[in-house]
Amino acid sequence: MCGIVGYIGNQDAKSILLQGLEKLEYRGYDSSGIFVVDENKNGHLFKEKGRIADLKKIIETDTFCTVGIGHTRWATHGRPSVKNAHPHQAANHQFTLVHNGVIENFLELRETYLSDISLSSDTDTEIIVQLIAYFAEKEQSSTFEAFKKTISKLKGSYALALIDINQPDIIYAAKNKSPLLVGKGESFNAVCSDAMAMIQETNQFVELMDGELVTLTRDEVKIETQDGTIINRAPYTAEINLNDLDLGTYPYYMAKEIDEQPAVLRKIIQAYQNDLGQFQLDKDIITSLKDSDRVYIIACGTSYNAGWAGKHLLENLAHIPTEVHLSSEFGHNMPILTKKPFFIFLSQSGETADSRQVLVKINAMNFPSLTLTNVAGSTLSREADFTLLLHAGPEISVASTKAYTAQITVLAALSEAIARENGIAGDSNMAHELGIVATGMESILSEKTHIEHLATEYLRTSRNAFYIGRGVDYYVVMEAALKLKEVSYVQTEGFAAGELKHGTIALIEENTPVIAIITDKVTAGHTRGNVQEVNARGAHSLVIAMEGLEQESDQFVLPEVHPLLTPLVSVVPTQLLAYYTSLHRGNDVDKPRNLAKSVTVE
Ligand code: M6R
Repeated sequence: MCGIVGYIGNQDAKSILLQGLEKLEYRGYDSSGIFVVDENKNGHLFKEKGRIADLKKIIETDTFCTVGIGHTRWATHGRPSVKNAHPHQAANHQFTLVHNGVIENFLELRETYLSDISLSSDTDTEIIVQLIAYFAEKEQSSTFEAFKKTISKLKGSYALALIDINQPDIIYAAKNKSPLLVGKGESFNAVCSDAMAMIQETNQFVELMDGELVTLTRDEVKIETQDGTIINRAPYTAEINLNDLDLGTYPYYMAKEIDEQPAVLRKIIQAYQNDLGQFQLDKDIITSLKDSDRVYIIACGTSYNAGWAGKHLLENLAHIPTEVHLSSEFGHNMPILTKKPFFIFLSQSGETADSRQVLVKINAMNFPSLTLTNVAGSTLSREADFTLLLHAGPEISVASTKAYTAQITVLAALSEAIARENGIAGDSNMAHELGIVATGMESILSEKTHIEHLATEYLRTSRNAFYIGRGVDYYVVMEAALKLKEVSYVQTEGFAAGELKHGTIALIEENTPVIAIITDKVTAGHTRGNVQEVNARGAHSLVIAMEGLEQESDQFVLPEVHPLLTPLVSVVPTQLLAYYTSLHRGNDVDKPRNLAKSVTVE
């Protein structure tokens, strides 16, 4: 989703901003722009629809600029176009602004204050910058006061960076709900939506809290609250390895990230095991969980799908009743909670606005919470009582793969740590079992050529597809279907295998691909029966079955792993099917249309 960068220093701001925007590309966007100020205090605005590569083509290189702001836009108000791309300017061109978020009362603000101004875009953002100009002029106030007053009128989410052309040695910034960090360096300062955007310049970042306002110069960062209280917050060191951001010899990040999964699993095992090779997690988390009567897992998209596999683990290993909820539904339609709920937020990015609005609500209710995230210092991590990191390394591809398996792995570690504490773990050793899973994943990855053939045979030209499974396989087919649809645009649904005959089987036509996952011996026979039913109606079925349950006609055999960990292996061929289908359809695998990586609006 939208990304912000801002830089004030002594180096070439244009190249630093462009580099930052390229690092934010993974979040998903449809247009981009930068505004830079040269040594003669002249402002230069460049905006383009499409990719950063297109923006680069229109940027003049003959001026040296040391201050500027940049933006990648993911359209909310108004179509993707040059006029709607950020930065936006006030009618008098004094103020230039970039914004991430959604201003809910922008129509009301326009009617109340700006009826005389003719707007040049369809965005909610333009209202903010016009309003700053309005207050600065009407009240003859300083830019900071006008900025502050404008912010006090906004309802909704925002991360903002502002330049006043009359004060080109300052960048103003502010945030509410949308992520924004300050990057600190030698003789420069920066703002950015995430640390990755500026990691090439600095690894020192200061987190900003909602409602804070920031004034950045080359040498100073002043953070204050709306009532003028000065905040002194120490920077943290962002631990991002630049090599992790490198594609290496891979054509796409999705392929690289699928391949990284065995290594990620081993990293998690190492991070959470004790000297005895058993999982041992923060005592406070375990005590708080032991004290609860139900776990509520809150998440979106792929993280939500991982939550279902997590429920399976928490209930079967730790014996804790667990519910899984979509963040966007739960926040506004909360079920009746038990007396002692414990909330687990699953979020790769740690910035998902739908999940964050739930966390804000449950914090207000004083319920304990834990975030499982890949991004240390992210909003959901900061605002929950506890955090467990996924240790997956940056996930750049919009389609989440290694975060899904990392989330399930950390939930397995957590479940076993609780079970051990409760004296019900017996001789279970999940660290050892997960090591077997990692090896199993490697053997699946060595069969990529076979899976690529299956993708071309079954999915390259099909209009729609179905995944079916039962029990834990049903949880995996929901994720398999999401993966396939988001990168290949094949309309795909994941169904409980037994449910198909209650309606959806009407959609099966000659050659409709139906992919079945079978890893559970109790339900294997039933699912095979369902495969027969669709075959009898012309389906082109593909069976992925676990070793020991396989039949000669099956198309792919999974290595056998611990029954509670089967999602970690069964999901891998489905990730590869999605990847190769997208590749052979000629799609932009890492940046599927309409999607954003970090979904920072509700
Ligand atoms: O960062 P999060 O895990 O909170 O993101 C949740 C979803 O937006 C994300 O999983 C999304 O569904 C991915 N595109 C799936 O591949």
